[in-house]
Formats: sequence, structure tokens, C-alpha cells
Amino acid sequence: MSGYTFTGKGGDFRMEDPQHSSGLYIPVAGNTGLRSAVSPDFGGDAKLDQNHFLIAPKSISNLHSDRDTRNFFCAYEDGIWSACGASAMQEAERFTDAEDKVVLEGGRMWQKVTRTDKKRNITAEITIFSLLDTPSEVMTVKITNDSDTETTFTPVAAIPIYGRSADNLRDHRHVTALLNRAKVCEDGVVVKPTLSFDERGHQINDTTYFVLGSGANGAKPVEFIADVDLFIGEGGTFLRPRTVLDITSSSWKKAPFNVDGKEMIGALKFERVTLKKGESVSFRLAIGATTDPEKDIANALLAITKAEDTDKIFEETKDYWNNLTNIHVKTGDAGFDNYMEWITFQPQLRRIYGCSFLPHHDYGRGGRGWRDLWQDCLALLLTDPDGVRKMIIDNFKGVRFDGTNATIIGDKPGEFKADRNGIPRVWMDHGFWPFLTLKLYMDQTGDIEILGENATYFKDALVCRAEKRDAEYGEDYGVVQKDKNGAEYQGSVLEHILIENVSAIYDVGDNGEIRLRGADWNDALDMATHKGESVAFTCGYAGNLVDIAKYIRLYADRSGKTTAPVAAELKELIFADGADLLSSPEKKRELLMSYMDKVSHAVSGDKEEISLEDIAKALEAKAEFMMNQIRDKEWVTDSEGNGWFNGYYDDNGKRVEGEFDTPDGKNVRMMLTGQVFSVMSGTAKEENVKEIIKSADKYLYKEGIGGYRLNTDFKALRTDLGRMFGFSYGDKENGAVFSHMAVMFGNALYKRGFAKEGYKALNSLYKASSNFEVSRIYPGVPEYFNAEGRGLYNYLTGAASWMMMTVVTQSFGVRGEAGDLCMQPALLAEQFDDNGIAAITLPFRGKEFEVRYINSGKKEVGDYQVSKATVDGKDMAVEDGKRAVLTAAEIDSLSDGKHTIEVYL
Ligand code: G1P
Repeated sequence: MSGYTFTGKGGDFRMEDPQHSSGLYIPVAGNTGLRSAVSPDFGGDAKLDQNHFLIAPKSISNLHSDRDTRNFFCAYEDGIWSACGASAMQEAERFTDAEDKVVLEGGRMWQKVTRTDKKRNITAEITIFSLLDTPSEVMTVKITNDSDTETTFTPVAAIPIYGRSADNLRDHRHVTALLNRAKVCEDGVVVKPTLSFDERGHQINDTTYFVLGSGANGAKPVEFIADVDLFIGEGGTFLRPRTVLDITSSSWKKAPFNVDGKEMIGALKFERVTLKKGESVSFRLAIGATTDPEKDIANALLAITKAEDTDKIFEETKDYWNNLTNIHVKTGDAGFDNYMEWITFQPQLRRIYGCSFLPHHDYGRGGRGWRDLWQDCLALLLTDPDGVRKMIIDNFKGVRFDGTNATIIGDKPGEFKADRNGIPRVWMDHGFWPFLTLKLYMDQTGDIEILGENATYFKDALVCRAEKRDAEYGEDYGVVQKDKNGAEYQGSVLEHILIENVSAIYDVGDNGEIRLRGADWNDALDMATHKGESVAFTCGYAGNLVDIAKYIRLYADRSGKTTAPVAAELKELIFADGADLLSSPEKKRELLMSYMDKVSHAVSGDKEEISLEDIAKALEAKAEFMMNQIRDKEWVTDSEGNGWFNGYYDDNGKRVEGEFDTPDGKNVRMMLTGQVFSVMSGTAKEENVKEIIKSADKYLYKEGIGGYRLNTDFKALRTDLGRMFGFSYGDKENGAVFSHMAVMFGNALYKRGFAKEGYKALNSLYKASSNFEVSRIYPGVPEYFNAEGRGLYNYLTGAASWMMMTVVTQSFGVRGEAGDLCMQPALLAEQFDDNGIAAITLPFRGKEFEVRYINSGKKEVGDYQVSKATVDGKDMAVEDGKRAVLTAAEIDSLSDGKHTIEVYL
């Protein structure tokens, strides 16, 4: 059998023969910064950060090429067997009848592999998880004799300790080994290098790496090796170490002793074991990296000394991760319900891992980018809105006065750093995302007043959208924008939003759409910095302006205010209009430049009270102009008359999409991004949406590999557009099914009332992910599916936040609207169970709700209406047969605890 089956809570699953698939890994981490990836043979790596890898870094291809894995050997008289499956003999037996029988069970932050040596009839069960509050992984190894005869072996744990920066993988790999100092003690091997060599230079090292072990009844290991060369022996390998083949080798020594200047390993030999028929023996290992060895090593030891304690900690840890998310769905497809357990967990993984540190995510040095920061908030807003208010206000401190933002994000909330290399790169989409997150926040909480809260601005040497440098700026200035008197300037959240959005719309190229600059959402559209334009995000910004106007009016209503203080310099950008200006890209750029020059060093600090209604009207007028311009100029068609919106201009200022004549014949160039944002923003009229769906189905949709691809094959290396065209077609940003954009397409379609089409986009992703034979990934949505349908970059993708948001607020239609809870389902008939029920549990305004939709006739979306709704059995308001509503005040008057809402369709 291939693939997994779900077995329990939180999306736990089980699969046979995981070694018959490549590239599988599960994230294992706690809350201390130690983050691991674990493959079915206990390969993978473990690290605190880029400069502190406990096990050497593993990119995806290292999972099969490298053998420095966590290992546990049984040394018999007649040969060696690895309980992890990593020995030369076992590799030679793979795909033959002699192969071990292997079953893997996996869940949130843990893995258990049960492996049977068929020849000897010995079974090993190995479980791995991470302690929550101590930077240490724990492995438990239980070996059982299922044979009819007695068996005798010597157990050896062997875990290589890399103990340095990822940079040293090749750069000074040998010299950095000379820095290593190991102390071998009675519990294991503790390595503390003298110095650390990395991009920060040579420093005194402060990190200690350890491998500890505990055997039957807490027995300590008896002998040790810390030097890799000695462990494998002359001519030996990790798969066939000579000191395990010759278990009485004199290389094994009793503790204590020290080893200097070697590649290190924690090789721990335990007392020889004899197991009678049916008997078991168990071992526990803890490996970690810490700057507080005294405390952490003691805690790690405590966790592994007694088997019962370790088992208890494992159960508690599983519960912790399972209870971390509080949104659960129940539909007619149990597979989907379990899949959603992983989708809701993925944003937590990105919180912990950032966008780095899993085998596919072998780039970056940890941390997240600006747009990821905001989009990850979306998921948090649905699961745990407490604390998000502060997070949002803190994040706004990263906005620059020219509308761009800091791109180096610190570890602490609201910490933004000046880019030391001063790389002048501006992603033109960055200003778009914060309002989207703020809007969800205001809807979920009803806290519209947040618009009036103050926050500082970010300041560094880059000014005028990175076209100029502020010569007066020095490092002593700090990173907070000051006014002309040298005081830190503060502006409202509304002002931040206005600066981001209103500055962007004047930053246009010669075709009147917003300049692409360094790239937009598609990071790989990075070679059209001069004349490139993103129509896609011009739509996005226009849509924002309409929504900002709506929330400004709501703010006025709720607060009773008619005006708001706004930076004096900004006023002109908000109100400038007239055909003369609007239709002249040059004049728009001049106006923006004159604003940016004014605020390039100090801002005046002067504020003007401006009428909220006037601002709202001005924004709407601008949005209308932008949308009309796109409707008039950007609709393209193929020779059969299929139409869609052009999303980009290249670096020659030429339109990118449409049908083109090439030496090889006609080439249709269509990209998904422009369709997503024209539909989502309302730029596309209803008839456009229908056309777009038709064209996307014709040119982008591919059955079986996740659905909507990011673009058609341009069949050209477009160096006037971006590096994406250097990627093979079907991979990553060049025409893969890129989950994030595909989910956003679904979201946009649902929003426009196209539920069946939105469902198709989402369901195609779910089906492709769970078709293990093809996708070869554990449950979850990967960043993308390649042309063969394989899932790549699993877990750490913004797609999960969007999928979760779309399922909750669109499919189930359970969403906040300025603090009220609305239930407007757009579920398809097939999503209800046999009794016509679909349910979701979720938190809202501090209470827990189960929303049950009852569709006994199993009517199709579009055919059903909301006929009646109750909360805890009492009638609720139903609006126009469309939706049930529970107002914020009604929710607040409910008791604490769980409530049931039943909505009859
Ligand atoms: C990744 C990045 C995201 C970027 C996208 C497209 O997507 O994290 O910022 O917009 O590539 O280039 P993700 O892996 O989050 O789906």
C-alpha cells in the first residue's frame, strides 16, 4: 500500500514503506528556537539559526546523498542492523524481499517509525519529538524480540555533531573542525567549539552542542567515541562504521575524556543486551544546542532518565501541538477535515521556522519578509486574535514616509533593521498587504478605533522609493523617522495606510499603471525595474482605496469624528485630481517626487485636520479612475476571442500578455496574478469574471496537478521581465501551480459570488496534495506543484493562511463584519455529510462557537437559502434568506464557553 491514512486527532497519519518515497520530512521543534527536519530514516538536520547547526544543514537532495543521520545500531555477532534503517546492508536490501518492514506514523512535530528486521524477527520502534521548553530533541528507541529464540546485541547510538554555521559546510569545513572541543562525560558527548567562524567574523563561541543517552532502567552508556574518523575507522562509512562492526574495538573508551579538533559525533555504546522471546528493551536519547548548558543539559537529562517520564512528556507534547489550533471542520469528506488540521497548523510552523530551515527552504537566514509578516497575521486573526492589535500597530512601525517599508525584520515585534548593505530594492506590492490584514482585524474584532492609534515610521538611508539616498542620514540617527525638531514623529494607523496606498498610485510607468520596480508578489519578476509595470497590483491598490473609503466612513460613524489629523505633506497626494494630472504619468511621478523630496530627511511634523468624508470621496474617485483605465486598456483577447486582463508591462514598456506571433507560431501568454487581483478588487465586472474563468480554464488549468498554473509557457528567456523565465517551465514562479496564487484565485471567485468556481480552485489543490502517489508529500499544502504534480516546499507557505481564511470565511462563510458574526455559507452539496450536515468550530470575540449548517435536502449552493438560524436553541436574525447574523452585542451577552449555532438551509 502506498500513501497515508489518517488515524487520529490533529491530522495524525500512518503509512507503510515511507522509504519508497523520496524527499519526505516532518518538522520537529519546540518553543526554544531549536528547529529540526526529520526524514523517515531519521536524517534531516537540527539548528538554532543559520550560524548554529547541531546536525549539518540538509537541502532536499542531501536527504538521500548524506548519511550523517541520527542513527541507532544493534551490533550482533553476525553483522550490524540499524534501527533507523541506515546501514549499508539495509540499503542493499531495499526493494528486495529481505527488506525491513517499515511503518511510519506522523503528527504535528513528531514521528514514529516501527521497523522489523525480518531475518531476525526483531522490531524497533523509534519516536522523535522536541521538548517544548528545552532546546533538545528526544528520541526513544524500543527494541523487541519477536523471535522464538534469545537474541544478543550491543546497542550503539550514533549522532554526528556538526556544531557550527551553515556557511562552513564548504567554506573552511576542515579548519572549523579544529575549533571543536568535546568533553565526554558519563551521559554522553558535549561539544563546545572554541571560536565560531561565520559572516560576522571570528568570535568566541557561546553555544554548546550535546548528545546524551539513557538505557534500560536509566542505565548510562558504557563507552564512547567522539571523533568521527575514529568511529567510522579507516575506510569505514556512516553506513558501515568499523567500530560497530568490531564492537570490542579499542577505539571505544570509558568516560571521562576529552577530544580536540575533530569532526565530532556522539557515539554511545550501551551494555550488551540479551532479549528472550517477547522481551523488550528501551533507550532514550536527547540531542540539543544551547547557550545555557548547565540548565538545558540538566533538563534534557531529566526528560530521558526514566522511560515512563519520557513517554508522559511525549503525550503532553502531542496534546500541546494538537490544542494549539482551535479551528476544526467537519464535512462529508473526513480526509479533507484532517487535511485542514495541517492547514491550520502550517501558519504556526511558519511562525516558528520563518521561511527558512526545512530541506526545500534552503535559502534565507531565518526570519520572514514584509508580505509574509502581514499575511501570517491573517491566520492568527482567525485562531488567536488576542495580542494581534499590538502586533499590527508594531508592524506599521516598518512603514517609511515614502510609502515603502523596511525589509529586514528583527526577531522582536516591531523591530525593523536598516539594511546594512543598503540594497535599494522596492517590492511594489508591499504597501498593498497591510490594509488587507487590518481589514480582517477590524472585521473580526469590530475594533475600528485602531485606525486612530499612533505609531512611528521607519527611517534609513534609502529615500524616494530607493531612488535616492539621504546624505544627512548616519547610523546614529536610528531607525525611527524624526520631525524637523528632532522628535520622533508619530502618525495614526490611518495615516500609515494612506501613505502606503496613496503614494503607490502615483508611482506609475509610461502606460499609467504602477511601476513594477524590484518585483511584486512574484519575487521572480525582478528584471523590469526601469519600465516594468504591474497591472495586477494596480488593481490591488485600487481595490484597497475603495475599501479604505468604506472603513473611513465606518470609523467616522463609530467614533463620531468628522475629521482626522493627517501629515500636512500628504494632503496634496490625497486630493490631487483633474484629467490633466490623472492622465499624465509624468505629472503623477513629478507630484510623487516632490512629496518624497519633502519628507526625505525630516518631516515637518505639522498635521492638518482633514474631513473624513472628503478623504473617502477622494479615494473612491481615484480608484474609479484606475479601474476604468484598466478596463479600457488592459483587456486582451486571443484569436478565438477569449479574454482576460493583461497583468504586466516588461522593461521595454511593452504589454506582456495576449496572443503573440513567434517564429514557432502563435504563443498565448497569460498569467494568473492579474486575474486574481482584477477579480478580487472588483476591477473585473461580472461578465469579465466569467470570461476570465473560461480563459483560465483553457490556458492555465491542469487536471491532477493542483489546478491553476501561474502562467502559460512563454517559450522565451525574458530577461526584460524576470529570473522566473530562467526556471524550467512548470516549476516555482514559472508556471507551477503556485498554491498561494491559486488559493487567492479561489478566494477572489468566492468573493464575487462564484462559489463553484472558487471551490474548484481550492479543491484541486486539496486533491493534488492528498494524492500521495503523485505529490509525495505528507498532508498539507505545499508552496507549489511542479509539472508532474509533485509537491515542493511543504509546510512553510503563505498559501496555508489563505486557504484557511478562504475555507472559514468563504466556503463556510463564517466571517466577522465590523465585529458582528455573519454566517453565509457557500458550501457545495458534496461538502455536506450524508445527513446534510457540515460544521465548523472556531473562536470569535473570545467565545467558542460550533456552527452547524443543516441542509437535509442536500441542495446545491445557489439553490439553498438560509431559512432559520438558532444560537443555543434560540432564534437568530436572518437577513434576506442569505445569511444569519449574530451582532457583537449579542455575542458579548452570551456566557463564556462553547455555543452552538444551527443554520437551516
Ligand atoms: C513565496 C514567498 C512569498 C512570495 C512568493 C512568490 O511564497 O514566501 O513572499 O510572494 O513566494 O514569489 P510562499 O512560499 O509563501 O507561498
